[in-house]
Amino acid sequence: MEIKKPLAIVDFEPISRRVLIQEKQNFYQILINSGIRITSLCGGQGKCGKCKIIIQQGFTILNPSTSIEKALLTQKEINQNYRLACQCIIGDNPPKLVEESIIPQVKIFLPEELLIENFKILTSGVNKGVNLKPSIIKKYLNVRKPNLTEPVADLERIIASLSGSIIKDDDIPFTFEIEYDALKKLPNILREQDHKITLTLWNDSKIIDCEAGDKTQESFGIAFDIGTTTIVGYLINLINGKIYALDSALNPQTAFGEDVVSRITYVKNSEESLLHLRDLVLDTLNKIIESTCKSAGITPKQIYETVIVGNSVMHHLFLGIDPSYIGLSPYVPSVQKGLNLPAKEVGLQIFPNANIYMLPLIAGYVGADTMGVIISSEIDKESELTLAIDVGTNGEIIIGNKEIIATGSCAAGSALEGAHITHGMRAASGAIDTVHINPKNFDVSYTTINNKEPLGICGSGLIDIIAEMLRSKIITRSGGFNKQVISHERFINLEKSFEFIIASKEETSFHRNITISQNDIRELQMAKGAFFCGTRLILQKLNELQKNDLKIGQIFLAGAFGNYINKNNAKFIGMIPDISEEKILQIGNAAGIGAQNCLLNRDLRDKAHQLLKSINYVEIAVQQNFQKEYAESMYFPHLKLNYFPSLKEYNEIPKR
Ligand code: FES
Repeated sequence: MEIKKPLAIVDFEPISRRVLIQEKQNFYQILINSGIRITSLCGGQGKCGKCKIIIQQGFTILNPSTSIEKALLTQKEINQNYRLACQCIIGDNPPKLVEESIIPQVKIFLPEELLIENFKILTSGVNKGVNLKPSIIKKYLNVRKPNLTEPVADLERIIASLSGSIIKDDDIPFTFEIEYDALKKLPNILREQDHKITLTLWNDSKIIDCEAGDKTQESFGIAFDIGTTTIVGYLINLINGKIYALDSALNPQTAFGEDVVSRITYVKNSEESLLHLRDLVLDTLNKIIESTCKSAGITPKQIYETVIVGNSVMHHLFLGIDPSYIGLSPYVPSVQKGLNLPAKEVGLQIFPNANIYMLPLIAGYVGADTMGVIISSEIDKESELTLAIDVGTNGEIIIGNKEIIATGSCAAGSALEGAHITHGMRAASGAIDTVHINPKNFDVSYTTINNKEPLGICGSGLIDIIAEMLRSKIITRSGGFNKQVISHERFINLEKSFEFIIASKEETSFHRNITISQNDIRELQMAKGAFFCGTRLILQKLNELQKNDLKIGQIFLAGAFGNYINKNNAKFIGMIPDISEEKILQIGNAAGIGAQNCLLNRDLRDKAHQLLKSINYVEIAVQQNFQKEYAESMYFPHLKLNYFPSLKEYNEIPKR
């Protein structure tokens, strides 16, 4: 079979879709031919200006901007490398400067408004519930009026009423502060309804707002989980603890790097780039605030507090703090403790004197999102030693129980989100998400997200494929294609390597096979090996600290990916330890629930602060036996089969 060298490789983000380009064509055609549905009103005629894409890499093999683009794009968009897909041609400018043997790579970011199919963003999870004790409380007071015998000032009379209405456990006298804005409007508000007034208090100690009459039923907060790829916001009524609306969006920073390391590289030494990424995330949060308020029928000014979780880089970028030093040894963040910041200074468009609480960071690569997982999963109350894995763009590992907790992070997520996999893509419509292979004839059956024609393979599909290929002995325990079966018709011989067909070209809308290559299997091996090796090294550390031989008794799988994978298959490929299925729980967006819980109960913020002192952080990659453990963990399920005693099927799977 003659294989024509591609003209270029194009990676489409944020869907992590790779397309090989064989001939000169424009991006509108490439997207349509690849089955990626986009917004366009003119069908590629250069009239509607809707098909905007952002070029991130590979400028030299594209045609220069056309006069149509100069007319339909703003100067700002042109400066930010926007092009119109139907006008931007690849191969128009052959790569003469590039060595013959190198295939040029182009990276394109598809803005959210261009994509018709929605992403599957996980917003729900297991919530154990919390007692309602928000930082924000509203107090309705019928304040005593002044007279000539007692000409007491407004604020002092209010404080006297307040002191009488708040019951405290100790004898400490109340001291109240008042925000300047609240003080300015106090005299008129107080007299608007005959000295009947509602005060909004933060932490029982600061008056942040005052309203005439009884407004005690109108108090809202919003919790955000800022992920590297997705952002979720939950609008919550602080009086009854219920979620009134939620919304999610892709993190627009993805256009400037798919993972935290590339975002750090983007902002390095450039205040302008840092502020650009800060503004992108801030805009998204403000849009979520607007949309959730609209669905709940309230105004953003009724939101008095926000709680935010995110990994350390997302945390810094949101606050406009340079995250560069997180990327340099010894990988420290600029601040670790939980923060209380005024909304008006940070730029969130809610009540101006509202408080923004940022959960504490555990370390440079284990952020406030992991703290959120610990808070919501209550791993610190478990009797059994519990492994919690949060699989996002970065993978965080927590192992602990009521006696001890340790955490660490491993760079494992991007293959599981479709990156670097030939036909990989994120969990969006058309992604193959579950797979079964008949071990007798290698027939493949699969499902896709939203039952659309297959477009690519997402992380859960990839895990299924590898597990099923192992069970069918299509691949060996070391991850190579089994030489005994490569003559089967489902294999494509590419001279130096093979590919196994998952969906044939007759089944896809873009008339090309969706396959798994040897390289794809290696990528998955690295990802799953990173998780297993990280787990073992953290466990070893705990055992050293406890002078014990602790064993993992249960597993919590957090995050979008953890929620959708087949638990047994994750175990079968050796990504997680060998424990029974009923002890493996999928807990959903545990980081987001941690943020919600901290919004609803302020004591959990003190708990996070206490946990910070007791959590043992393990820098996995610098552990003495890291290389050996990692190499052994890349085998299926592991080089040492005795780590997986229940997987008897492995006795029949060839090692090489
Ligand atoms: S599709 Fe309308 S301008 Fe490109």
